[in-house]
Amino acid sequence: MFDEALVSKRCRWPHWRAKLRTAQEAAALIQDGMTVGMSGFTRAGEAKEVPRALAERALQEPFSITLMTGASLGNDLDRLLTEANVLARRMPFQVDPTLRRAINDGRVMFIDQHLSETVELLRNRQLADMDVAVIEACAITEDGHIVPTTSVGNSASYAQLAKKVVIELNLDAPEGLEGLHDIYIPQMRPTRPPIPVVAPDTRIGTPYIPIDSSKIAAIVITHGKDSPSTVQPPDADTKSIADYLIGFFADEVKIGRLTPALLPLQAGIGNMANAVMSGLAEGPFEHLTMYSEVLQDSTFDLLDSGKLDFASGCSITLSEPCGERVWNNLERYRDRLVLRPQELSNHPGIVRRLGVISINTALEMDIYGNVNSTHVGGTQMMNGIGGSGDFARNAQLSIFVTKSLAKGGDISSIVPFVSHVDHTEHDVDIFVTEHGLADLRGLAPRERAVQVIERCVDPRYRPALRRYFADACKRGGHTPHCLEQALSWHIAMEQDGNMRRFQCAETAGAVE
Ligand code: COA
Repeated sequence: MFDEALVSKRCRWPHWRAKLRTAQEAAALIQDGMTVGMSGFTRAGEAKEVPRALAERALQEPFSITLMTGASLGNDLDRLLTEANVLARRMPFQVDPTLRRAINDGRVMFIDQHLSETVELLRNRQLADMDVAVIEACAITEDGHIVPTTSVGNSASYAQLAKKVVIELNLDAPEGLEGLHDIYIPQMRPTRPPIPVVAPDTRIGTPYIPIDSSKIAAIVITHGKDSPSTVQPPDADTKSIADYLIGFFADEVKIGRLTPALLPLQAGIGNMANAVMSGLAEGPFEHLTMYSEVLQDSTFDLLDSGKLDFASGCSITLSEPCGERVWNNLERYRDRLVLRPQELSNHPGIVRRLGVISINTALEMDIYGNVNSTHVGGTQMMNGIGGSGDFARNAQLSIFVTKSLAKGGDISSIVPFVSHVDHTEHDVDIFVTEHGLADLRGLAPRERAVQVIERCVDPRYRPALRRYFADACKRGGHTPHCLEQALSWHIAMEQDGNMRRFQCAETAGAVE
Protein backbone atom coordinates (compact mmCIF):
# COMPACT_ATOMS: atom_id res chain seq x y z
CA MET A 1 0.00 0.00 0.00
CA PHE A 2 1.27 3.48 -0.80
CA ASP A 3 0.08 7.01 -1.21
CA GLU A 4 -0.60 7.34 -4.96
CA ALA A 5 -0.45 11.16 -4.90
CA LEU A 6 2.89 11.11 -3.12
CA VAL A 7 4.33 8.57 -5.56
CA SER A 8 3.12 10.58 -8.60
CA LYS A 9 4.82 13.63 -7.17
CA ARG A 10 8.14 11.84 -6.72
CA CYS A 11 7.87 9.70 -9.84
CA ARG A 12 7.36 11.99 -12.81
CA TRP A 13 8.07 9.29 -15.42
CA PRO A 14 4.64 8.59 -16.95
CA HIS A 15 5.11 4.81 -17.26
CA TRP A 16 5.85 4.08 -13.63
CA ARG A 17 2.63 2.23 -12.83
CA ALA A 18 3.45 -0.54 -15.32
CA LYS A 19 6.77 -1.13 -13.59
CA LEU A 20 5.59 -1.24 -9.97
CA ARG A 21 6.73 -4.46 -8.29
CA THR A 22 7.07 -5.77 -4.78
CA ALA A 23 10.57 -6.16 -3.41
CA GLN A 24 10.19 -9.94 -3.76
CA GLU A 25 9.19 -9.64 -7.43
CA ALA A 26 12.11 -7.34 -8.13
CA ALA A 27 14.49 -9.64 -6.24
CA ALA A 28 13.34 -12.51 -8.48
CA LEU A 29 15.14 -10.76 -11.37
CA ILE A 30 18.38 -11.64 -9.60
CA GLN A 31 19.47 -15.22 -10.22
CA ASP A 32 22.27 -17.52 -9.10
CA GLY A 33 25.69 -16.47 -10.43
CA MET A 34 24.71 -12.95 -11.45
CA THR A 35 26.74 -9.79 -10.90
CA VAL A 36 24.64 -7.20 -9.13
CA GLY A 37 25.43 -3.55 -8.45
CA MET A 38 23.70 -1.75 -5.62
CA SER A 39 23.64 1.82 -4.41
CA GLY A 40 25.08 2.53 -0.97
CA PHE A 41 28.18 4.20 0.36
CA THR A 42 29.27 4.24 4.02
CA ARG A 43 25.81 3.23 5.15
CA ALA A 44 24.16 6.00 3.12
CA GLY A 45 21.64 5.68 0.31
CA GLU A 46 21.65 1.90 -0.01
CA ALA A 47 18.80 0.01 -1.67
CA LYS A 48 16.98 -1.35 1.38
CA GLU A 49 14.17 -3.73 0.47
CA VAL A 50 15.42 -5.73 -2.53
CA PRO A 51 18.58 -6.95 -0.73
CA ARG A 52 16.45 -7.88 2.27
CA ALA A 53 14.11 -9.85 -0.01
CA LEU A 54 17.14 -11.53 -1.61
CA ALA A 55 18.40 -12.65 1.79
CA GLU A 56 14.96 -14.01 2.72
CA ARG A 57 14.69 -15.93 -0.56
CA ALA A 58 18.17 -17.41 -0.22
CA LEU A 59 17.21 -18.96 3.12
CA GLN A 60 14.60 -21.06 1.21
CA GLU A 61 16.32 -21.40 -2.13
CA PRO A 62 20.15 -21.18 -1.94
CA PHE A 63 21.90 -19.05 -4.54
CA SER A 64 24.86 -16.68 -4.58
CA ILE A 65 25.93 -13.58 -6.46
CA THR A 66 28.76 -11.12 -6.91
CA LEU A 67 27.71 -7.95 -5.10
CA MET A 68 29.26 -4.60 -5.95
CA THR A 69 28.34 -1.40 -4.14
CA GLY A 70 29.85 2.02 -3.61
CA ALA A 71 31.16 1.09 -0.18
CA SER A 72 29.57 -0.27 3.01
CA LEU A 73 25.82 -0.91 3.37
CA GLY A 74 23.69 0.10 6.35
CA ASN A 75 20.59 -1.43 7.90
CA ASP A 76 22.51 -4.65 8.61
CA LEU A 77 22.23 -5.67 4.96
CA ASP A 78 25.77 -7.03 4.64
CA ARG A 79 25.11 -9.16 7.72
CA LEU A 80 21.77 -10.47 6.41
CA LEU A 81 23.22 -11.26 2.99
CA THR A 82 26.21 -13.01 4.56
CA GLU A 83 24.08 -15.07 6.93
CA ALA A 84 21.92 -16.18 4.01
CA ASN A 85 25.07 -17.14 2.04
CA VAL A 86 24.09 -14.82 -0.83
CA LEU A 87 27.57 -13.36 -1.24
CA ALA A 88 30.03 -15.37 -3.31
CA ARG A 89 32.09 -12.28 -4.13
CA ARG A 90 31.90 -8.80 -2.63
CA MET A 91 33.61 -5.56 -3.61
CA PRO A 92 34.92 -2.91 -3.10
CA PHE A 93 34.53 -2.13 0.69
CA GLN A 94 32.65 -3.28 3.80
CA VAL A 95 32.58 -2.65 7.54
CA ASP A 96 30.28 -5.40 8.83
CA PRO A 97 31.63 -7.78 11.53
CA THR A 98 29.71 -10.83 10.20
CA LEU A 99 30.83 -10.24 6.63
CA ARG A 100 34.36 -9.56 7.89
CA ARG A 101 34.42 -12.97 9.58
CA ALA A 102 33.18 -14.67 6.41
CA ILE A 103 35.86 -12.88 4.39
CA ASN A 104 38.60 -13.89 6.82
CA ASP A 105 37.33 -17.50 6.92
CA GLY A 106 37.56 -17.59 3.13
CA ARG A 107 33.80 -18.06 2.67
CA VAL A 108 33.32 -14.76 0.80
CA MET A 109 35.84 -13.66 -1.82
CA PHE A 110 36.38 -9.98 -1.07
CA ILE A 111 38.10 -7.74 -3.59
CA ASP A 112 39.57 -4.74 -1.81
CA GLN A 113 39.77 -1.91 -4.35
CA HIS A 114 40.65 1.76 -4.53
CA LEU A 115 37.14 3.19 -4.53
CA SER A 116 37.72 5.37 -7.58
CA GLU A 117 38.63 2.36 -9.70
CA THR A 118 35.73 -0.08 -9.49
CA VAL A 119 33.58 1.41 -12.23
CA GLU A 120 36.60 2.05 -14.44
CA LEU A 121 37.32 -1.69 -14.33
CA LEU A 122 33.68 -2.48 -15.03
CA ARG A 123 33.47 -0.03 -17.91
CA ASN A 124 36.56 -1.52 -19.51
CA ARG A 125 35.12 -5.03 -19.06
CA GLN A 126 37.92 -6.10 -16.76
CA LEU A 127 35.20 -7.34 -14.42
CA ALA A 128 32.19 -9.50 -15.29
CA ASP A 129 29.34 -7.61 -16.99
CA MET A 130 26.72 -6.31 -14.61
CA ASP A 131 23.35 -8.07 -14.83
CA VAL A 132 21.18 -5.97 -12.53
CA ALA A 133 21.60 -2.63 -10.75
CA VAL A 134 19.43 -1.81 -7.75
CA ILE A 135 19.46 1.89 -6.96
CA GLU A 136 17.72 3.90 -4.26
CA ALA A 137 16.07 7.08 -5.54
CA CYS A 138 14.29 10.03 -3.99
CA ALA A 139 12.66 10.87 -7.33
CA ILE A 140 12.40 9.68 -10.95
CA THR A 141 12.39 12.39 -13.61
CA GLU A 142 10.01 12.83 -16.55
CA ASP A 143 12.42 10.80 -18.73
CA GLY A 144 12.92 7.97 -16.25
CA HIS A 145 16.24 9.28 -14.97
CA ILE A 146 17.17 8.53 -11.37
CA VAL A 147 17.62 11.13 -8.62
CA PRO A 148 19.72 9.35 -5.98
CA THR A 149 19.35 9.83 -2.23
CA THR A 150 22.12 10.37 0.34
CA SER A 151 24.95 8.85 -1.67
CA VAL A 152 25.97 8.69 -5.31
CA GLY A 153 28.81 6.21 -4.89
CA ASN A 154 28.98 3.98 -7.97
CA SER A 155 25.24 4.15 -8.65
CA ALA A 156 25.44 6.17 -11.87
CA SER A 157 27.81 3.83 -13.67
CA TYR A 158 26.06 0.73 -12.31
CA ALA A 159 22.72 2.00 -13.61
CA GLN A 160 24.22 2.81 -17.01
CA LEU A 161 26.21 -0.41 -17.39
CA ALA A 162 23.73 -2.97 -16.02
CA LYS A 163 21.43 -4.87 -18.34
CA LYS A 164 18.42 -4.19 -16.08
CA VAL A 165 17.72 -1.52 -13.51
CA VAL A 166 15.58 -1.82 -10.38
CA ILE A 167 14.73 1.47 -8.68
CA GLU A 168 13.81 1.62 -5.01
CA LEU A 169 11.84 4.84 -4.69
CA ASN A 170 12.20 5.75 -1.03
CA LEU A 171 9.33 8.00 0.02
CA ASP A 172 11.07 8.79 3.32
CA ALA A 173 14.14 10.26 1.61
CA PRO A 174 14.00 14.06 1.85
CA GLU A 175 12.61 15.61 -1.33
CA GLY A 176 15.12 18.41 -0.87
CA LEU A 177 17.90 16.03 -1.93
CA GLU A 178 16.92 16.72 -5.53
CA GLY A 179 19.39 19.20 -6.97
CA LEU A 180 22.25 18.23 -4.65
CA HIS A 181 23.84 15.72 -7.02
CA ASP A 182 26.20 16.35 -9.91
CA ILE A 183 26.42 13.30 -12.13
CA TYR A 184 29.20 13.13 -14.67
CA ILE A 185 30.60 9.93 -16.16
CA PRO A 186 34.06 10.16 -17.74
CA GLN A 187 34.25 9.17 -21.38
CA MET A 188 36.02 6.02 -22.61
CA ARG A 189 39.82 5.92 -22.68
CA PRO A 190 42.14 6.61 -24.45
CA THR A 191 40.41 9.65 -25.98
CA ARG A 192 38.87 10.91 -22.73
CA PRO A 193 38.91 14.70 -22.49
CA PRO A 194 40.03 16.29 -19.19
CA ILE A 195 37.41 16.20 -16.44
CA PRO A 196 36.61 19.90 -15.94
CA VAL A 197 36.38 20.04 -12.12
CA VAL A 198 38.62 22.98 -11.21
CA ALA A 199 37.30 23.78 -7.73
CA PRO A 200 35.31 21.90 -5.07
CA ASP A 201 32.13 23.73 -6.11
CA THR A 202 32.43 23.15 -9.88
CA ARG A 203 29.35 21.46 -11.28
CA ILE A 204 29.86 19.65 -14.56
CA GLY A 205 26.99 17.17 -14.91
CA THR A 206 23.29 16.58 -14.40
CA PRO A 207 21.33 16.54 -11.11
CA TYR A 208 20.13 13.01 -11.95
CA ILE A 209 21.54 9.72 -13.29
CA PRO A 210 20.64 9.61 -16.98
CA ILE A 211 19.62 6.10 -18.04
CA ASP A 212 17.89 4.41 -20.93
CA SER A 213 14.42 4.06 -19.40
CA SER A 214 13.74 0.89 -21.40
CA LYS A 215 16.12 -0.83 -18.95
CA ILE A 216 13.91 -0.07 -15.95
CA ALA A 217 12.70 -3.52 -14.99
CA ALA A 218 11.01 -2.69 -11.69
CA ILE A 219 10.15 0.19 -9.39
CA VAL A 220 9.76 -0.73 -5.74
CA ILE A 221 8.21 1.79 -3.35
CA THR A 222 10.09 1.81 -0.05
CA HIS A 223 10.34 3.65 3.24
CA GLY A 224 13.09 3.75 5.80
CA LYS A 225 16.12 5.69 6.83
CA ASP A 226 19.84 5.19 6.52
CA SER A 227 21.55 3.74 9.57
CA PRO A 228 22.93 6.58 11.67
CA SER A 229 26.68 6.89 11.91
CA THR A 230 28.23 5.69 15.12
CA VAL A 231 30.78 8.48 15.30
CA GLN A 232 31.90 9.16 18.88
CA PRO A 233 32.74 12.55 20.38
CA PRO A 234 36.49 13.24 20.56
CA ASP A 235 38.36 11.59 23.49
CA ALA A 236 41.62 12.83 25.03
CA ASP A 237 43.76 11.06 22.39
CA THR A 238 41.77 12.12 19.33
CA LYS A 239 41.61 15.65 20.76
CA SER A 240 45.38 15.65 21.15
CA ILE A 241 45.86 14.39 17.57
CA ALA A 242 43.54 17.13 16.34
CA ASP A 243 45.47 19.75 18.34
CA TYR A 244 48.83 18.68 16.86
CA LEU A 245 47.43 18.80 13.37
CA ILE A 246 45.76 22.15 13.85
CA GLY A 247 49.01 23.55 15.27
CA PHE A 248 50.80 22.23 12.21
CA PHE A 249 48.31 23.89 9.83
CA ALA A 250 48.57 27.16 11.76
CA ASP A 251 52.38 27.03 11.42
CA GLU A 252 52.11 26.33 7.69
CA VAL A 253 49.92 29.43 7.39
CA LYS A 254 52.41 31.49 9.39
CA ILE A 255 55.29 30.35 7.18
CA GLY A 256 53.20 31.20 4.10
CA ARG A 257 53.02 27.69 2.67
CA LEU A 258 49.24 27.69 3.18
CA THR A 259 46.65 30.46 3.41
CA PRO A 260 44.01 30.56 6.18
CA ALA A 261 41.71 28.79 3.71
CA LEU A 262 44.24 25.90 3.69
CA LEU A 263 43.50 23.73 0.66
CA PRO A 264 40.47 21.56 -0.13
CA LEU A 265 40.28 19.04 2.71
CA GLN A 266 39.59 15.33 2.58
CA ALA A 267 38.91 13.49 5.81
CA GLY A 268 38.59 9.73 6.07
CA ILE A 269 35.97 7.70 7.86
CA GLY A 270 35.69 7.31 11.61
CA ASN A 271 36.17 9.12 14.86
CA MET A 272 39.68 10.37 14.34
CA ALA A 273 39.05 12.20 11.08
CA ASN A 274 35.79 13.58 12.44
CA ALA A 275 37.60 14.90 15.55
CA VAL A 276 40.29 16.58 13.46
CA MET A 277 37.74 18.24 11.22
CA SER A 278 35.72 19.42 14.25
CA GLY A 279 38.92 20.89 15.72
CA LEU A 280 39.31 23.14 12.67
CA ALA A 281 36.40 25.19 13.97
CA GLU A 282 38.70 26.39 16.77
CA GLY A 283 41.70 27.29 14.60
CA PRO A 284 42.65 30.52 12.78
CA PHE A 285 41.14 29.29 9.52
CA GLU A 286 38.44 30.70 7.29
CA HIS A 287 36.76 30.03 3.95
CA LEU A 288 37.66 26.34 4.18
CA THR A 289 36.50 23.92 1.49
CA MET A 290 36.26 20.13 1.34
CA TYR A 291 36.91 17.84 -1.60
CA SER A 292 36.22 14.61 0.19
CA GLU A 293 34.47 11.28 0.02
CA VAL A 294 32.14 10.88 3.00
CA LEU A 295 30.70 14.00 4.60
CA GLN A 296 30.28 13.41 8.33
CA ASP A 297 28.85 15.43 11.25
CA SER A 298 31.94 17.62 11.39
CA THR A 299 31.27 18.91 7.85
CA PHE A 300 27.93 20.29 8.97
CA ASP A 301 29.37 21.69 12.21
CA LEU A 302 31.89 23.59 10.10
CA LEU A 303 29.24 24.75 7.62
CA ASP A 304 27.09 25.95 10.54
CA SER A 305 29.99 27.75 12.19
CA GLY A 306 30.68 29.63 8.95
CA LYS A 307 34.24 28.27 8.72
CA LEU A 308 33.49 26.02 5.75
CA ASP A 309 32.34 27.59 2.50
CA PHE A 310 31.67 24.48 0.46
CA ALA A 311 31.80 20.67 0.70
CA SER A 312 32.01 18.19 -2.17
CA GLY A 313 31.61 14.47 -1.40
CA CYS A 314 29.97 11.31 -2.65
CA SER A 315 27.87 10.47 0.41
CA ILE A 316 26.52 11.96 3.62
CA THR A 317 26.64 9.79 6.75
CA LEU A 318 25.37 11.45 9.91
CA SER A 319 24.63 10.66 13.53
CA GLU A 320 20.97 10.75 14.53
CA PRO A 321 20.97 14.27 16.05
CA CYS A 322 22.99 15.74 13.21
CA GLY A 323 20.75 13.95 10.69
CA GLU A 324 17.68 15.59 12.25
CA ARG A 325 19.32 18.97 11.89
CA VAL A 326 20.49 18.49 8.31
CA TRP A 327 17.66 16.55 6.66
CA ASN A 328 15.02 18.90 8.07
CA ASN A 329 16.91 21.99 6.92
CA LEU A 330 18.44 21.01 3.59
CA GLU A 331 17.64 24.41 2.13
CA ARG A 332 20.20 25.90 4.50
CA TYR A 333 22.99 23.80 2.92
CA ARG A 334 21.79 23.51 -0.67
CA ASP A 335 24.20 26.04 -2.21
CA ARG A 336 27.18 24.76 -0.25
CA LEU A 337 27.07 21.03 -0.99
CA VAL A 338 27.48 18.69 -3.92
CA LEU A 339 27.41 14.88 -4.15
CA ARG A 340 29.37 13.33 -7.01
CA PRO A 341 30.09 9.79 -8.22
CA GLN A 342 32.93 8.31 -6.15
CA GLU A 343 34.96 8.03 -9.32
CA LEU A 344 35.04 11.85 -9.28
CA SER A 345 35.07 12.60 -5.55
CA ASN A 346 38.16 10.39 -5.33
CA HIS A 347 39.60 11.07 -8.77
CA PRO A 348 43.41 11.01 -8.59
CA GLY A 349 43.74 13.68 -11.31
CA ILE A 350 41.33 16.07 -9.61
CA VAL A 351 42.86 15.44 -6.16
CA ARG A 352 46.24 16.35 -7.58
CA ARG A 353 44.88 19.34 -9.52
CA LEU A 354 43.18 20.83 -6.45
CA GLY A 355 46.11 20.12 -4.10
CA VAL A 356 43.91 18.34 -1.59
CA ILE A 357 45.03 17.91 2.02
CA SER A 358 44.13 14.32 2.85
CA ILE A 359 43.71 13.04 6.40
CA ASN A 360 43.21 9.31 6.81
CA THR A 361 43.45 6.84 9.68
CA ALA A 362 46.03 4.07 9.79
CA LEU A 363 45.75 0.75 11.59
CA GLU A 364 49.53 0.68 11.92
CA MET A 365 52.54 2.57 10.60
CA ASP A 366 56.19 1.71 10.49
CA ILE A 367 59.25 3.73 11.38
CA TYR A 368 59.97 4.55 7.73
CA GLY A 369 56.48 5.77 6.83
CA ASN A 370 54.68 2.77 5.36
CA VAL A 371 51.02 2.48 6.37
CA ASN A 372 48.74 -0.49 6.88
CA SER A 373 45.08 0.56 6.67
CA THR A 374 43.49 -2.81 6.18
CA HIS A 375 45.02 -6.02 7.57
CA VAL A 376 45.33 -6.81 11.28
CA GLY A 377 48.45 -8.92 11.80
CA GLY A 378 49.03 -8.82 8.06
CA THR A 379 46.23 -11.31 7.37
CA GLN A 380 42.85 -10.39 8.85
CA MET A 381 40.88 -7.91 6.74
CA MET A 382 39.39 -5.04 8.72
CA ASN A 383 37.36 -2.90 6.27
CA GLY A 384 39.31 -2.27 3.10
CA ILE A 385 41.51 0.45 1.65
CA GLY A 386 38.48 2.55 0.74
CA GLY A 387 39.43 5.87 -0.77
CA SER A 388 42.54 6.35 1.31
CA GLY A 389 44.85 5.34 -1.55
CA ASP A 390 43.04 7.49 -4.10
CA PHE A 391 43.81 10.50 -1.93
CA ALA A 392 47.12 9.62 -0.23
CA ARG A 393 49.07 9.12 -3.45
CA ASN A 394 47.83 12.33 -5.03
CA ALA A 395 47.29 14.80 -2.21
CA GLN A 396 49.45 17.90 -1.76
CA LEU A 397 49.74 16.94 1.91
CA SER A 398 49.13 13.31 2.73
CA ILE A 399 48.49 12.88 6.46
CA PHE A 400 47.94 9.68 8.42
CA VAL A 401 46.72 9.67 12.00
CA THR A 402 46.40 6.90 14.58
CA LYS A 403 46.48 6.40 18.32
CA SER A 404 49.94 5.18 19.27
CA LEU A 405 48.49 2.18 21.10
CA ALA A 406 45.69 -0.28 20.40
CA LYS A 407 43.89 -2.78 22.66
CA GLY A 408 44.70 -1.00 25.90
CA GLY A 409 48.43 -0.89 25.22
CA ASP A 410 48.83 -4.51 24.09
CA ILE A 411 49.72 -3.25 20.64
CA SER A 412 52.02 -0.48 19.48
CA SER A 413 50.54 1.02 16.33
CA ILE A 414 54.07 1.88 15.26
CA VAL A 415 56.26 -1.10 14.47
CA PRO A 416 59.59 -1.78 12.74
CA PHE A 417 57.85 -2.99 9.59
CA VAL A 418 54.11 -2.95 8.86
CA SER A 419 52.60 -6.40 8.44
CA HIS A 420 50.77 -5.30 5.26
CA VAL A 421 51.41 -2.26 3.07
CA ASP A 422 48.57 -0.15 1.71
CA HIS A 423 50.39 3.18 1.44
CA THR A 424 54.08 3.18 0.83
CA GLU A 425 56.56 5.59 2.40
CA HIS A 426 56.48 7.48 -0.92
CA ASP A 427 52.85 8.48 -0.37
CA VAL A 428 52.99 9.70 3.21
CA ASP A 429 54.03 13.22 4.31
CA ILE A 430 52.85 13.55 7.89
CA PHE A 431 52.23 11.08 10.74
CA VAL A 432 50.32 12.14 13.83
CA THR A 433 49.59 10.33 17.08
CA GLU A 434 48.52 11.69 20.46
CA HIS A 435 52.22 12.09 21.29
CA GLY A 436 53.18 14.33 18.42
CA LEU A 437 53.53 15.01 14.72
CA ALA A 438 56.30 13.73 12.46
CA ASP A 439 56.85 15.86 9.36
CA LEU A 440 58.47 13.45 6.90
CA ARG A 441 58.59 15.76 3.90
CA GLY A 442 61.98 15.80 2.22
CA LEU A 443 63.50 13.34 4.66
CA ALA A 444 65.51 10.21 3.83
CA PRO A 445 64.48 6.93 5.50
CA ARG A 446 67.10 7.21 8.28
CA GLU A 447 65.84 10.72 9.10
CA ARG A 448 62.20 9.64 8.91
CA ALA A 449 62.72 6.86 11.43
CA VAL A 450 64.12 9.30 14.00
CA GLN A 451 61.14 11.64 13.58
CA VAL A 452 58.59 8.84 13.82
CA ILE A 453 60.19 7.15 16.85
CA GLU A 454 60.83 10.33 18.83
CA ARG A 455 57.58 12.13 18.07
CA CYS A 456 54.86 9.53 17.54
CA VAL A 457 55.63 6.31 19.43
CA ASP A 458 54.26 5.69 22.92
CA PRO A 459 57.12 6.09 25.45
CA ARG A 460 56.62 2.48 26.58
CA TYR A 461 57.58 1.14 23.17
CA ARG A 462 60.07 3.85 22.23
CA PRO A 463 63.25 2.25 23.69
CA ALA A 464 62.67 -1.02 21.80
CA LEU A 465 62.17 0.83 18.51
CA ARG A 466 65.26 2.95 19.14
CA ARG A 467 67.23 -0.28 19.69
CA TYR A 468 65.81 -1.87 16.56
CA PHE A 469 66.73 1.18 14.49
CA ALA A 470 70.25 1.40 15.97
CA ASP A 471 70.89 -2.31 15.27
CA ALA A 472 69.54 -1.91 11.75
CA CYS A 473 71.76 1.12 11.09
CA LYS A 474 74.81 -0.93 12.08
CA ARG A 475 73.98 -3.32 9.25
CA GLY A 476 73.70 -0.41 6.81
CA GLY A 477 71.46 0.22 3.85
CA HIS A 478 69.35 3.10 2.57
CA THR A 479 66.39 1.79 4.56
CA PRO A 480 68.11 -0.18 7.33
CA HIS A 481 66.43 -3.33 8.62
CA CYS A 482 67.26 -6.43 10.62
CA LEU A 483 65.11 -8.63 8.44
CA GLU A 484 64.95 -11.53 10.89
CA GLN A 485 63.49 -9.11 13.49
CA ALA A 486 61.46 -6.88 11.21
CA LEU A 487 58.22 -8.83 11.73
CA SER A 488 59.02 -9.95 15.29
CA TRP A 489 56.45 -7.57 16.77
CA HIS A 490 53.71 -9.29 14.77
CA ILE A 491 55.09 -12.71 15.68
CA ALA A 492 54.84 -11.65 19.35
CA MET A 493 51.15 -10.91 18.71
CA GLU A 494 50.67 -14.40 17.30
CA GLN A 495 52.55 -16.08 20.14
CA ASP A 496 51.57 -13.94 23.15
CA GLY A 497 48.47 -12.13 21.94
CA ASN A 498 50.24 -8.83 22.60
CA MET A 499 53.47 -6.90 21.99
CA ARG A 500 54.27 -6.35 25.65
CA ARG A 501 57.61 -8.13 25.40
CA PHE A 502 58.80 -4.99 23.57
CA GLN A 503 57.70 -2.61 26.29
CA CYS A 504 60.29 -0.77 28.30
CA ALA A 505 60.85 -2.83 31.50
CA GLU A 506 60.39 0.13 33.89
CA THR A 507 56.99 1.10 32.51
CA ALA A 508 55.64 -2.29 31.38
CA GLY A 509 53.59 -2.82 34.53
CA ALA A 510 52.04 0.63 34.20
CA VAL A 511 50.24 -0.05 30.94
CA GLU A 512 46.52 -0.60 31.18
N1 COA B 1 46.46 -3.86 15.41
C1 COA B 1 45.31 -4.51 15.67
N2 COA B 1 44.12 -3.90 15.84
C2 COA B 1 44.11 -2.56 15.77
C3 COA B 1 45.26 -1.80 15.53
C4 COA B 1 46.48 -2.51 15.34
N3 COA B 1 47.60 -1.86 15.08
N4 COA B 1 44.92 -0.50 15.52
C5 COA B 1 43.61 -0.43 15.74
N5 COA B 1 43.11 -1.67 15.90
C6 COA B 1 41.73 -2.04 16.15
C7 COA B 1 41.10 -1.23 17.28
O1 COA B 1 41.39 -1.79 18.53
C8 COA B 1 39.63 -1.32 16.93
O2 COA B 1 39.18 -2.60 17.32
P1 COA B 1 37.70 -2.85 17.89
O3 COA B 1 36.79 -2.57 16.70
O4 COA B 1 37.72 -4.27 18.29
O5 COA B 1 37.55 -1.86 19.00
C9 COA B 1 39.63 -1.29 15.40
O6 COA B 1 40.96 -1.68 15.00
C10 COA B 1 39.34 0.09 14.81
O7 COA B 1 40.26 1.00 15.34
P2 COA B 1 39.84 2.46 15.85
O8 COA B 1 41.00 2.97 16.64
O9 COA B 1 38.51 2.42 16.50
O10 COA B 1 39.86 3.32 14.53
P3 COA B 1 38.77 3.70 13.44
O11 COA B 1 37.38 3.29 13.77
O12 COA B 1 39.03 5.12 13.18
O13 COA B 1 39.21 2.81 12.18
C11 COA B 1 40.55 2.05 10.37
C12 COA B 1 40.51 2.79 11.72
C13 COA B 1 41.96 2.10 9.84
C14 COA B 1 40.09 0.62 10.52
C15 COA B 1 39.56 2.82 9.41
O14 COA B 1 39.90 4.18 9.35
C16 COA B 1 39.59 2.24 8.01
O15 COA B 1 38.89 1.28 7.72
N6 COA B 1 40.42 2.83 7.11
C17 COA B 1 40.60 2.34 5.76
C18 COA B 1 39.68 3.01 4.81
C19 COA B 1 39.88 4.49 4.76
O16 COA B 1 40.89 5.03 5.16
N7 COA B 1 38.87 5.18 4.25
C20 COA B 1 38.84 6.60 4.19
C21 COA B 1 39.14 7.06 2.82
S1 COA B 1 38.25 8.47 2.35
